[in-house]
Amino acid sequence: MKPNPRTLFKQESRIADEFALLEAIVVFPGDCLELLKTIPNESLQLIVTSPPYNIGKEYEKKLHLDLYLQQQAQVIAECTRILSPRGSICWQVGNYVDKGAIIPLDTVLYPIFASHGLRMRNRIIWHFEHGLHGSRRFSGRYETIMWFTKSDDYVFNLDAVRVPQKYPGKKYFKGPKAGQYSCNPLGKNPGDLWVIPNVKSNHVEKIEHPCQFPVELVERLVLALTDNRDWVLDPFLGTGTSVIAALRHGRRGVGAEIVPKYVQLARQRIQQEIDGTLRTRPMNRPVYDPIEAGNSLTIAPWKKDAEQIRLFERSPKYRKTAGR
Ligand SMILES: C[S@@+](CC[C@H](N)C(=O)[O-])C[C@H]1O[C@@H](n2cnc3c(N)ncnc32)[C@H](O)[C@@H]1O
Repeated sequence: MKPNPRTLFKQESRIADEFALLEAIVVFPGDCLELLKTIPNESLQLIVTSPPYNIGKEYEKKLHLDLYLQQQAQVIAECTRILSPRGSICWQVGNYVDKGAIIPLDTVLYPIFASHGLRMRNRIIWHFEHGLHGSRRFSGRYETIMWFTKSDDYVFNLDAVRVPQKYPGKKYFKGPKAGQYSCNPLGKNPGDLWVIPNVKSNHVEKIEHPCQFPVELVERLVLALTDNRDWVLDPFLGTGTSVIAALRHGRRGVGAEIVPKYVQLARQRIQQEIDGTLRTRPMNRPVYDPIEAGNSLTIAPWKKDAEQIRLFERSPKYRKTAGR
């Protein structure tokens, strides 16, 4: 089979088990702390991960929040040690749920990063449209990516991740530049609200893992925060997404995964990426709009003029005031 031309390390397409700076692809089968111990100080450019959220998924035992934070703190300390001086850490998290009450994990993890002197550059909101439907609160439709750098001198390749302008034809209408195009021809800054579909059942990347993140989400971070041949590490690798995003753009990738079945899936997907057979959702493809696509399910089957009864109108307490 032909190697994928998108992958820079054609001659280096071996998937190693143990870290060495001379490797290009490493999938460590085991605890991330064991992998981190083997990585030299200040040697990797980007650490990007979606850690366990401690919500009792099949790969985790739900812990008391303090114990969970202690474990995360150990990993974060090691990640800070191995991060290069111009490097970045991106920690993608959602909510911990305690007897129905939510605790946004970024709020409780932030002090740990800050205690290492890391500087937060963005708190990116990742918005998606699919997930559980809440009955006691609004359905959760975003998670966050905390982006930290080790110093004020950090890699940020904005041009590599610009997105199309809304009004590319707009011109200055007064002043010394009147008549010239007012926006950057390379596109605009993508901002800190990213609308990217999450990997649910009908997503092209979905395999047997309860919470993969989409390759395109990591690709944007890889392109913006690393240069060619830099190392990208994911301490909680899951199905290999971060390594795939790294290889696709000529970077090197390393990750640890503790569950053997996911180690195998990660290796399979990385191999498919090397071979050029991995199917992924392309970066920057607009989100599917069912109405624009003419999907027949968007036409309501109930009578057009039947008015939806609002909940408060059904309640005797509010009936008197309804319709005011
Ligand atoms: C939220 S998932 C990450 C999924 C990944 N982003 C992907 O796209 O497939 C967290 C992963 O961390 C793994 N994990 C949990 N504790 C670990 C540890 N101590 N060391 C390495 N992996 C661990 C879990 O098995 C799980 O696959």
